[in-house]
Amino acid sequence: MAKTVGIGITGGIAAYKIAELVSMLKKDDLDVIVIMTAAATEFITPLTFRTLSGREVLVDLWDDSREWKVQHIGVAEQLDMLVVAPATANFIAKAAHGIADDLLSTVVLANTSPLLVVPAMNHNMYKNQAVQDNIRTLKEYGYKVMEPDSGALACGVSGQGRLPEIGSIYNEIKKMLYPLQDLRGKRIMVNAGTTCEDIDPVRFIANRGTGKMGIAIAENAVDRGADVILVCGNSPLETPAGVKFVPVWGAEEMCEAMLKYQPACDIIIGAAAVGDFRIKDMAEQKLKKSDNQSEELTLTLVGTPDILKTLGKNKPGNQIMVGFAAETENIIANAQKKLESKNLDFIVANDVTMEGAGFASDTNIVTFISRSGEIESLPKMSKQDVAAAILDKVVKLL
Ligand code: C5P
Repeated sequence: MAKTVGIGITGGIAAYKIAELVSMLKKDDLDVIVIMTAAATEFITPLTFRTLSGREVLVDLWDDSREWKVQHIGVAEQLDMLVVAPATANFIAKAAHGIADDLLSTVVLANTSPLLVVPAMNHNMYKNQAVQDNIRTLKEYGYKVMEPDSGALACGVSGQGRLPEIGSIYNEIKKMLYPLQDLRGKRIMVNAGTTCEDIDPVRFIANRGTGKMGIAIAENAVDRGADVILVCGNSPLETPAGVKFVPVWGAEEMCEAMLKYQPACDIIIGAAAVGDFRIKDMAEQKLKKSDNQSEELTLTLVGTPDILKTLGKNKPGNQIMVGFAAETENIIANAQKKLESKNLDFIVANDVTMEGAGFASDTNIVTFISRSGEIESLPKMSKQDVAAAILDKVVKLL
């Protein structure tokens, strides 16, 4: 389920920069609730954030909430984390002393999720003993406080007080939202989607693969700190944020791309629905039909490379390779054969005839079969949860 991030904006000139942050978080499919102080609305309008976050922007403590719950409690309960950026000296002082005199400071008190405070102000204000004491207090409360950057300030002088780069705030948010960083420093290549084989310049053969499973794995790996290469055939889904995206068309192109990146990878997961055949001779011009409706057209197919088998032959000893086996009968025995022939560390088998499993579905019902012979069946779960379970198993093997 998408996580919910509260973005509190207080009245500093850097408020306008938060538009970019909200936009980046939304691209990650996070749910963003923007809460502005009255002073912040003097610098940038709530309309900007309403448009970017796709939600009503909250400003007034006394607004009539549509929910039965008091607004500040209702909002605080939804949050997986709260960020206050820019945080003015005034906000920091209020938060350090438990003052709750507007919606944002009240939400801060009611909030129990991790809190990130990003101060930005004039350098003399930032150095002021009272401000520094208040920041220390916030840290003692367990809040994470980012250091402002040094450089030119809006007031015309230079010093420490600039809002950190939006990219740094974004990275800090991701680290706090996803504390499990067990794939940091690892490079993982995932393939996803369906391969397509051309018949003529406008027609092709593909299959029912949508990319949901592979993309869920890529997203989970990014959240866990991995460096992710997503080699993707045809898929109607959006490219996930934070991956190196390598779009491909046919099985041969997918195989070449994966062979190129294989030596740099610690982990390879083959979740793509790779076509086993391609058209032997693609027509150079669009095939024409005749007036005779009963005319027959014969297409000659030839095999495509088995990508995982090819990669399996080149596999260095410390590389972990995982494949999928979509089966309709004799699931375990067929999957075991594939595990061996493709030189995999484990295989994720599923019975695609079962409801809630296989292509296009949002859920999957899978069994892990390891090289050691261990068999582990998981209940029906979302493809996101299956992705997390696969990577949990990979981490154990690393
Ligand atoms: O042999 P089968 O197609 O059932 O094996 C499925 C697994 O092998 C999947 O992980 C799939 O991505 C991969 N595969 C492949 N190259 C092919 C066919 C399948 O890498 N040509």
